[in-house]
Amino acid sequence: MATAITDIGTLLTCDPSLGEGPGGVLRDAAVVIDGGRVAWVGSTAAVPAADDAYSARGRALLPGFVDSHAHLVFAGDRTAEFQARMSGRRYSAGGIRTTVAATREATDEALEANVARFVGEALRQGTTTIETKSGYGLTVPDEARALRIAARHTPEVTYLGAHVVAPEYADDPDGYVELVTGPMLDACAPHARWVDAFCERGAFDADQARAVLTAGAARGLVPRVHANQLGPGPGVRLAVELGAASADHCTHLSGADVDALAGGDTVATLLPGVEFSTRSPYPDARRLLDAGVTVALASDCNPGSSFTSSMPFCVALAVREMGMTPDEAVVAATRGGALALRRPDVGRIAPGSRADLVLLDAPSHVHLAYRPGVPLVAAVWRGGVVVHPAGE
Ligand code: NIG
Ligand code: FE
Repeated sequence: MATAITDIGTLLTCDPSLGEGPGGVLRDAAVVIDGGRVAWVGSTAAVPAADDAYSARGRALLPGFVDSHAHLVFAGDRTAEFQARMSGRRYSAGGIRTTVAATREATDEALEANVARFVGEALRQGTTTIETKSGYGLTVPDEARALRIAARHTPEVTYLGAHVVAPEYADDPDGYVELVTGPMLDACAPHARWVDAFCERGAFDADQARAVLTAGAARGLVPRVHANQLGPGPGVRLAVELGAASADHCTHLSGADVDALAGGDTVATLLPGVEFSTRSPYPDARRLLDAGVTVALASDCNPGSSFTSSMPFCVALAVREMGMTPDEAVVAATRGGALALRRPDVGRIAPGSRADLVLLDAPSHVHLAYRPGVPLVAAVWRGGVVVHPAGE
């Protein structure tokens, strides 16, 4: 059953071979979807016959957002910590332990309901692929439980036993690394695709993070790294050294870090919701793009440093605060996220790609930055099926 979506005012394909500029933009365009995939892309005037037709009435169509970095398996919130920050307190990684305590106490049902709620919230804002991590359990059963729950909602599941040192090991961080690379990895590897470590002062140093990431890689998990968030450090270079899919945060970069990223395949994933919610300086996306680094944008949705699931909000911040053009930001939030998750099937609208589409109540994707905070997502297709608004 083929459906033709016609009269698309601006089609952002995110495939430069299909249209203008880095976003591969087409005007007065049409897309045919068939069997959950994109079958054809071109102009409305040339659209082939299909079983069904849907007029976009001049509005914009873009790929579903690919949010390649989120922490959705948790309980509780950290409103008080946010309020304290907004009265001048600094963000520190230590707040993670507050969420660890609440998460350990929560029932499976409560955690599952939270994940479902955030995935649904993200979907209504155009996110059709989302990654999520463990990291608020920090015991063998709690980490494995988080991954089992996450895997029921997305295939992009990341083992983050190395989020911070578990409170029980406060005096023995190396003992905790042995747990994370031993019994915890045994219990978690079957449920995850990725392994991550928070390489930062107050969390894990380069040797500890390397031990965790290489142990995960030996079990078939692909590394990604929380790197250079709170200050300069070795995380980005470690990510490139290990061939990680992504180095995430990249807020405090040296020239050597930028050169390393430019010389490797590791995507730089920027998380501007964090700088917004922690009142910190934003990463310099322009510097990375000008050096030829592949940049992704993601939400980092978590209760501490960035409690937003909104990719449109991240796009608006990236344009206003990080030197990205609207095209670059939307491409980073779609195609960039797909590259960070090594998912060639999503993040663009091209023949053969999954029919994950977002229709905006706006004539172009530029409105995502031009009209910040406005709910512009009119409809979302995932795998060719309309999933928002419900019942369509
Ligand atoms: O990506 N940086 C480490 N982890 C999260 C924050 C988690 C928290 O504060 O609960 C992040 O920002
Ligand atoms: Fe994170």
